[in-house]
Amino acid sequence: MSVAPSQLPAHIAIIMDGNGRWAKQRKLPRIEGHRRGVETVRAITDATRELGIRYLTLYAFSVENWKRPEEEVGALMGLLEFFLKRETKAMIKNRVRLLAIGRIHELPERVRTQLIAAMKATERFTDYTLVLALNYGARTEVVDAARAYATAVAAGKEKLNDSSWETFRRYLYTADIPDPDLVIRTSGESRVSNFLLLQAAYAEFIFTPVLWPDFTKGELLAACAEFARRERRYGQTSEQLKPVPSALAP
Ligand code: IPE
Ligand code: IPE
Ligand code: MG
Repeated sequence: MSVAPSQLPAHIAIIMDGNGRWAKQRKLPRIEGHRRGVETVRAITDATRELGIRYLTLYAFSVENWKRPEEEVGALMGLLEFFLKRETKAMIKNRVRLLAIGRIHELPERVRTQLIAAMKATERFTDYTLVLALNYGARTEVVDAARAYATAVAAGKEKLNDSSWETFRRYLYTADIPDPDLVIRTSGESRVSNFLLLQAAYAEFIFTPVLWPDFTKGELLAACAEFARRERRYGQTSEQLKPVPSALAP
């Protein structure tokens, strides 16, 4: 399956779901599913980079995920630390810039230290960006952005009369990241679960039944092919989007 490079999404965001069910189907502990999920992260990061996709955002831990059993939360944080430690060298070699969105300051110290080190070590790269959504929630993001915006207004750095989406968006965690073109959710659930609610305003959504540990480059390519078939109208009509043949142009 091949998609013309100009038809590919520049930014893919993925809700990596189904690790627990993958493990349950095999009578394994849930953490085994998360472990396998980490291997999929590696494969899909490589695949998107090789395709020439500029941004990949992965929803790795939501603000709501703290409500899981302590043992699972601990294991997920351990895996995150392991992933960052293991992958930093490869990210440098592959010129991957790592960014994080979410309430990073609330992550356990060991994870935060590793994360900050990995981001620092890769900050000079520009071709490909991997964004990890960690302790991320779209609603907490709006609250944090509103607070930062209000502080800027109070300090005279922003004028309320000039407020616009273009101004406000600079206070989101994603200030320096373009909006996703395509959002994929694995595992058959058709919901957004508090992920990039504002940034995905005009994203295309693809829901696949495949569980995250089973998600492959082939499924990624199929999603890209489906994306290329869609017409993004941004409120306009289909006719408005078609180029007028020059013979008919006024
Ligand atoms: C996604 O898999 C990983 C995280 C949310 C951290 P799940 O753990 O949600 O897997 P299911 O939905 O229980 O199968
Ligand atoms: C969304 O998956 C969060 C991540 C993938 C990190 P969940 O499994 O937490 O979502 P719900 O609870 O099914 O909505
Ligand atoms: Mg889930």
